Amino acid sequence: MPKGLFDLTGKRALITGSGRGLGYTLARGLGRAGAVVVLNDIDASLLRKAVAALRREGIDASGTVFDVRDAGAIAKGIRAIEKKQGGIDILVNNAGIQIRASLEEFDEEAWRRLIDINLTGVFLVSKAVVKGMITRKSGKIINIGSVQCELARPTIAPYTAAKGGVKNLTRGMATDWGKYNIQVNSIAPGYLKTEMTQALYDDPKFNAWLCGRTPANRWGDPEDLVGAAVFLSSRASNYVSGQIVFVDGGLTSCV
Ligand SMILES: NC(=O)c1ccc[n+]([C@@H]2O[C@H](COP(=O)([O-])OP(=O)(O)OC[C@H]3O[C@@H](n4cnc5c(N)ncnc54)[C@H](O)[C@@H]3O)[C@@H](O)[C@H]2O)c1
Repeated sequence: MPKGLFDLTGKRALITGSGRGLGYTLARGLGRAGAVVVLNDIDASLLRKAVAALRREGIDASGTVFDVRDAGAIAKGIRAIEKKQGGIDILVNNAGIQIRASLEEFDEEAWRRLIDINLTGVFLVSKAVVKGMITRKSGKIINIGSVQCELARPTIAPYTAAKGGVKNLTRGMATDWGKYNIQVNSIAPGYLKTEMTQALYDDPKFNAWLCGRTPANRWGDPEDLVGAAVFLSSRASNYVSGQIVFVDGGLTSCV
């Protein structure tokens, strides 16, 4: 293998919503591959614990609190990172929420909150980070989508709409920013065990259905995403852009 193809030594990565769950595991994975990682979350206490855990492992980690819906707070956070640590080479747009209800009863305020965090947040954080990437003519952006960017499920239509938006926003970003040597891709996870999916995991009926429905015959582990994230953050993917990489145990390949 060519030396250093997947090495992230010295690269600076910002991962949104990384106080726990997939974002935390992705931050740890990029850190283990050599990156200096900046974690973000809306929850300051989660963030503090996550940063401390990574530092205990020897990873160069720090934290910045902002809400991905708040353009002013994002700009302030990004400016502080750039001043203290230098430009951001890798952005992982991971922050997201789930709200479940039948569509005919879905609350309008909940719809707006979900779209704001899961879709508009990707636009706002990327817009703030990409300015430095354009100046440096180099950057990697990874948007965390979902198998729900292609497939619906009962009670999560707004989430499906947002993740479908993330899929095409990824293609739009890749189109507009490719000329600046910025690669933008999406990782679309299947069902991975985190606090977001804990209730589904604990439901024996859903659990049995999912394992039967997924060719890999099991739930995903957050660690299952790390290989794709390191690839899409490294020079190994310098001519890969606008792609949706499904990490779903084969779920979207079969009915
Ligand atoms: N877990 C899965 O199976 C799965 C599957 C497909 C996609 N995803 C996506 O992966 C991402 C992470 O999911 P997870 O399972 O780790 O969820 P999680 O709920 O465990 O973690 C989400 C994190 O985002 C933070 N967050 C929420 N709103 C925020 C905001 N406005 N600003 C900043 N941070 C905010 C939360 O505090 C939390 O730490 C989401 O985008 C989710 O849609 C998850």
